Amino acid sequence: MRFQKPKGTQDLLPGKVEIWQFLEAKAHELCRRFNYREIRTPIFEMTELFLRSVGETTDIVEKEMYTFRDKADRSMTLRPEGTAGAVRAYVENKLFASVDPVKLYYIGPMFRYERPQAGRYRQFHQFGVEAIGSDDPALDAEVIAMGYRFYREVGLNDVRVEINSIGNAASRASYRKRLEDFLAPKLPSLCPDCQKRFLRNPLRVLDCKKDVELLQDVPSILDSLDEPSRRRFDEVRAYLDELAVPYAVNCRLVRGLDYYTHTAFEYKAGGIGAAADAVGGGGRYDGLVAEIGGEDRPAVGFGIGLERVVALLETRNVDVPVDRFPDVYLIAVGEQASRKLVSLLDAARAAGLSADRDYMGRSLKAQLKAADRSGAKIAAVLGEDELDRRQIQLKILATGEQYAVSLDRWIDEIKNRLSRLEHPEEGR
Ligand code: HAM
Repeated sequence: MRFQKPKGTQDLLPGKVEIWQFLEAKAHELCRRFNYREIRTPIFEMTELFLRSVGETTDIVEKEMYTFRDKADRSMTLRPEGTAGAVRAYVENKLFASVDPVKLYYIGPMFRYERPQAGRYRQFHQFGVEAIGSDDPALDAEVIAMGYRFYREVGLNDVRVEINSIGNAASRASYRKRLEDFLAPKLPSLCPDCQKRFLRNPLRVLDCKKDVELLQDVPSILDSLDEPSRRRFDEVRAYLDELAVPYAVNCRLVRGLDYYTHTAFEYKAGGIGAAADAVGGGGRYDGLVAEIGGEDRPAVGFGIGLERVVALLETRNVDVPVDRFPDVYLIAVGEQASRKLVSLLDAARAAGLSADRDYMGRSLKAQLKAADRSGAKIAAVLGEDELDRRQIQLKILATGEQYAVSLDRWIDEIKNRLSRLEHPEEGR
């Protein structure tokens, strides 16, 4: 029997995984500068957590969760997103007792049972941040600007920011009324999903990709914001201007999760696929901490879809360091040399070099070929003669130059040669 990876998942192989390591390193580095600390939470949580946070009428909860019963008959779910788990951990570990705001970040896999297509997977990865404990609009702007900076720093210059405000509960209630009045006469023409959404959560209709025409003149939620909500939105925008983060206001942007209040935003870019133009998204979620059983704390965060970032890097031909080769490939000829090679290899690695050797019992010629194929810059050949003289032959594979060096200083010599190969202009 032949096995295949589950639909909607990916194997990240050497040659490509380096892009992921690059993105992860950038994310860690960015978070260090913005003073966010990493949090690692379980990949599965009690199902109830997601019903409470993401919301029972969302597509995620209604259709997309990987839910299963464990052996003790508890309902568990593979996390479809990171905010719920981060907030659960914040409450459970009483992080609210430390200095506010608590600034957290995570990088890891999320799971949604969606129909796979370009940029849409069933197991995907998010880099997310959550700042909990402050309702300062400057913090909303910091979070938006941080995501914006992430895209720029990995080499994507055309990711756009769209923002909206969905206001406080009172503003949303008054908008819901206006929206229902607008949608009611159009109800029979709406798609079946939206007919259901109209009854359960009409704001979701704004997300619909099928009913775009019918929604052309839909009232703007911004006209329903009460004074405090409007003022708050203005402040977030003023801070973004101050930070020189360009953005467009999109009054239809409501996000697909229920916990949001006030600020909602998305990072968008074309070219991945029609259903995947959002490369990241987030917003403020002031009621969620209390909803999950903690003290009432305001919060804001984002989640960036790393598969989509990788896809953008590829379509825009952004140069990312993808290949990793050994510095030196060690070759032995003869039994005694083979024995000695083990400790030389170990010494090279202990000295910080990336080093490898033949394990296939190849001939000298075949080992030289293997050294070439490995991508190593230098081959180091140890024969019985060299061993007697306490020497090793270095062969610079790019030029073919070959010479013997003492075993007392062969590692230093390799390091010198490598640095000259990397910076040929120096020392001229
Ligand atoms: P979200 O908009 O559901 O928000 O997901 C964030 C990002 O994850 C999306 O913009 C997209 O790039 C990526 N993504 C989502 N689903 C998939 C998929 N099936 N395949 C590939 N990529 C996908 C959240 O998850 C919120 N927790 C963000 C947040 C954090 N809000 C506040 N804090």
